[in-house]
Amino acid sequence: MRASSEPPSTCMRVKAPVDTIFTSHQRLPSIQNDDKFYLQYDSSHSLTEQLLKMTILRNIDESSEARLFVRVLVVVLGVAILVPYLYFRAEGKGINRVPLPPTPPGNFITGNLSEVLAAVSKNQQHLLFNEWAQQYGEIVRVRSGPFVQYFINSDKAVKEIFDRNSAFTSQRPRWIASNEQICNGMNLLLLDGDHPRWKHQRKVTHNYLTSVPRADAGLPFLHFESAKFLHRVASEADITAMSGWKLYRSILRYTYSMFASQTFGLDIPEDDDQVIADIHETGLAQILQTLPGANLVDPLPILDKLPLVLKPWERRNRKRFTRDMDFVKEKLNRIRQLRARGVTSDAFLPLIEAENKGSEFGAGIDEAAYLSLMLVIGAADTSAVSTWSFMEAMLMFPTVQTKARRLITQMIGDRIPTYEDIDRIPYVRCLMKETWRWRPPVALGHPHITTRDLIYNEMRIPAGSQIHLNAYAVQHDPTRHPNPDQFFPERFENDLTTTMQSINAKDVRDRDHFAFGAGRRICPGYHVAERSLAVAIMRILWAFEIVPSSDARMPLDPLAFEGGMMPGIADKRMPVCFKLVSEQRREHINVAFEQAVSERRSMEPLVVEETGQGAFERLGFVNYDEH
Ligand code: HEM
Repeated sequence: MRASSEPPSTCMRVKAPVDTIFTSHQRLPSIQNDDKFYLQYDSSHSLTEQLLKMTILRNIDESSEARLFVRVLVVVLGVAILVPYLYFRAEGKGINRVPLPPTPPGNFITGNLSEVLAAVSKNQQHLLFNEWAQQYGEIVRVRSGPFVQYFINSDKAVKEIFDRNSAFTSQRPRWIASNEQICNGMNLLLLDGDHPRWKHQRKVTHNYLTSVPRADAGLPFLHFESAKFLHRVASEADITAMSGWKLYRSILRYTYSMFASQTFGLDIPEDDDQVIADIHETGLAQILQTLPGANLVDPLPILDKLPLVLKPWERRNRKRFTRDMDFVKEKLNRIRQLRARGVTSDAFLPLIEAENKGSEFGAGIDEAAYLSLMLVIGAADTSAVSTWSFMEAMLMFPTVQTKARRLITQMIGDRIPTYEDIDRIPYVRCLMKETWRWRPPVALGHPHITTRDLIYNEMRIPAGSQIHLNAYAVQHDPTRHPNPDQFFPERFENDLTTTMQSINAKDVRDRDHFAFGAGRRICPGYHVAERSLAVAIMRILWAFEIVPSSDARMPLDPLAFEGGMMPGIADKRMPVCFKLVSEQRREHINVAFEQAVSERRSMEPLVVEETGQGAFERLGFVNYDEH
């Protein structure tokens, strides 16, 4: 038996130095090569044969037939016993000697599946993973059947893994159904981080929508839509009757319309416009199909090789893509017609179209149109949810509400606030930071995949692992934020950094929250999101009191209305409504809205065919009221 630096074709490749396997007189020279060790077995006297002979077979009578039999037996047994032994020992060697992160005890076969499913059924997986974070520490490995996920639970670990190692943690899992079929490989959110299309889409998104100057260019849309929202509520005969779902629907219109205006240059005028549900449902389908167990083709990619006729799921998914593509192409045609009539717009797609930048996309300008829809999906729900969570906080912590309104009114008086007021009312920034800390909209992060073994704090995350930034756990770590369930904006009173400044904080302990993710895949929309939430907070508090609706069960229990939409987020059942701060305020709102209408350039609606019914609904995809 000899050792070699290269693995010859006949050798058995094992991942361990031999010195841990054999006693000193049996030790064989080994050559380390890239953390792997190669042993070459002499065909006439296998190592296993020698070993076993020395031990259990010493006394066997050595007639030639018996010897042959014994040799065969020895080889078979040797392979059967030693190979797994060597393999499992190899797991503990070199870089592989570093242990995997702790895992909660679970079933041998299903792992932690039953606990995870129980939590998912109540939409409380964030609470389960937070509990495990507190019990097991900075990284927790969770196995649900064959799926393994690593949850990153501390600010330092996030910095090290997502930021410093972003070159190795920026891929996405392979999602055949969602990325490749529903989105035809065109969705920025789902593409791999080294994909040229991802790089190009990200750059264009920055240049035309999310950089600071472009976020500022979106302010007129934001100011108009939020004024319209205030006016819509204030015009109700009985404002307090507009509660729960009805109120949420109005917030959804305002955020969807704002982002439809910023991307397509087209708006959504009515709360009951079906197009809101249609767009929402497309986003939901994309996300649902990324979840483990949602389909068979992701865990069994071999199914993807079947002919299309045998893949009903792919036909369905591709139909959805075609439908979405038809939808955005129709918008593109209208944008072109508008430009031909001399109507221009300072929005994402109209600018790309006017500047002839469409040809720079791999799939031409149609890809830019599809990206516009994906951006509405990424932006509108997360922004609506942020406003909704803020309202939950005001409902649950009325003294904070009173203080915040006092500070805003002192500074603003009787005019409607605008984004520029944020610098004059530092408490608004504290409210924003605390909202995103208390209720991160994407509580468990969007999954990333590692492309090489990573070591953190003497724990190993193997290459190819699915990792999650557990924003909820980091932001509810009582050592980082004492009394984490309390909504307490004052915890940020010495931190008036913008989201970007905080993301780039030298010491990660100074970072306010992780609601936008981290590393190369960090949400590109945070400047836009920041403007949106700041205006929502200032205008809602200036105009209304946020109070329990008449059907509220007191005392309020957040768990009774959380989790229907996203883990950790209050859903449409939240018993909340508005009351006007004063009758005078109604007048101020009317004046502000009239002015906003008069200053606004006219805009066509996103869907023109009919009112109350979106193009998608005719295809039978969704019933809005079921959501
Ligand atoms: C409060 C509002 C928002 C929150 C909490 C939020 C949160 C997130 C999170 C957690 C991710 C995943 C990051 C990761 O993979 O590590 C993400 C990705 C993304 N977000 Fe946002 N987002 C918000 C608003 C927006 C807005 C306003 C836009 C666009 C204008 C936007 C566009 C995107 C896009 C395109 C991605 C995919 C980035 C990529 O995969 O490279 N988001 N967002």
